[in-house]
Amino acid sequence: MPGTLPEELVDAELRTDARGRAWGVLEAVVSPHPQRVAPDCAQYRGCPGCPLRHAAPEFAAEWKLGAARRAFERIAGHPAPPGDLMQPVGREAFRARLSGARLGGVLGMGALPGEPPVDLRLCPAQTSASRAALTAFQADLEAQGLLDAVARVSVAAAEETGDVRIAVAAMDAPALARLLAAPLPVRPGRAVFAKLPTARDADLETGATALAGTPTMRFRAGDDTLQATMPAWVPQSPGTLNALRDWALAALQPAGVDVLELGCGVGTLSLPLARAARSLVGVDCVRPAIVDATENARVAGVENARFRLGFADHAVRRLVSGGHRFEAVLLHGMRAPFGARLMDVLPAVGARRIAYLAPITASLARDANALKGYTLERLDFVDQMPGTAHLMAMGVWTRRPNSS
Ligand SMILES: C[S@@+](CC[C@H](N)C(=O)[O-])C[C@H]1O[C@@H](n2cnc3c(N)ncnc32)[C@H](O)[C@@H]1O
Repeated sequence: MPGTLPEELVDAELRTDARGRAWGVLEAVVSPHPQRVAPDCAQYRGCPGCPLRHAAPEFAAEWKLGAARRAFERIAGHPAPPGDLMQPVGREAFRARLSGARLGGVLGMGALPGEPPVDLRLCPAQTSASRAALTAFQADLEAQGLLDAVARVSVAAAEETGDVRIAVAAMDAPALARLLAAPLPVRPGRAVFAKLPTARDADLETGATALAGTPTMRFRAGDDTLQATMPAWVPQSPGTLNALRDWALAALQPAGVDVLELGCGVGTLSLPLARAARSLVGVDCVRPAIVDATENARVAGVENARFRLGFADHAVRRLVSGGHRFEAVLLHGMRAPFGARLMDVLPAVGARRIAYLAPITASLARDANALKGYTLERLDFVDQMPGTAHLMAMGVWTRRPNSS
């Protein structure tokens, strides 16, 4: 039940919907858990985004660590190996990207039943840059009488460079025509794109048309400033980038070896890995990401990295049949598992060590089940979004001695 903690005694109202589904709505906590704290967000009651803000941060982290390890064990069918939980960011201002919808008069997020929409301009989890970008964009739409033309919105904002990338889904074809016809105010570093998505299309960036600005934004990662051109991936929780980089360097031990990175994006992790390695090949299925990664390596003076466009399984097959071998492999995917087609061919790369960054523990567990000839040595986690239920899982495999 939202708003509760384990073993609490509460008063709740039981509600049911037309399909007979029932849920409890918390009315009062009769005996609170010792780790309960006052939620540090005015919209907490109705917001599904940070369901753990009423728990002390250390307790919330341990709680979701337990849930993630249990999820791994349920799917993998064996105990999770040892690992650490990293907590590089606090509960405020960690999130540089947002997606929302127009709900009445706000660009926000759907709330729990019976509560008003969540106004993301007030969300404490967003960085000041992403909140400011959304606030300015909504004001500009209102000033032009265009707010009702927008169905959904996604915003990415880079704090250090000031660059902002906004993509909107128009309500319908006439609404898209209105958005394309009306000039939005020019704001330095801001790009606004729009499209008419299909019903199931969650990606607002691919195939969108410019309303203002250029599709390339710049963001900082460690000592690098990287460019990312829509729809190339930009980090969601920039405050955790150094922790991810350090973890990947420790997991892969790349000194003097050839590294393969699957899901390299614009090269966020590729550049530090290549600096430590003999060579690096990065693969990504998004064309602009590969163009950006190549340019980012050139600008950074990293000469031993090459980037290839393709899906991971096809790319690995081509590399292996071309005689390439890599001693270390990093996989960094989206929410879905990479799948058995990649895991079947991956051992042919000959890697001694494989590391995997997984936004969802279940994806890592599913791919782990399909990978043969390797032992999962560690299962670490990084809390990229404290207060939410999310944890990023990070696995390290070593090749078994008898596997060729
Ligand atoms: C979470 S992003 C990480 C990007 C980059 N490593 C970084 O840290 O910025 C995952 C990347 O994997 C790519 N990707 C996802 N599935 C893929 C696949 N099957 N083959 C190739 N690339 C894939 C996406 O396009 C995206 O750029």
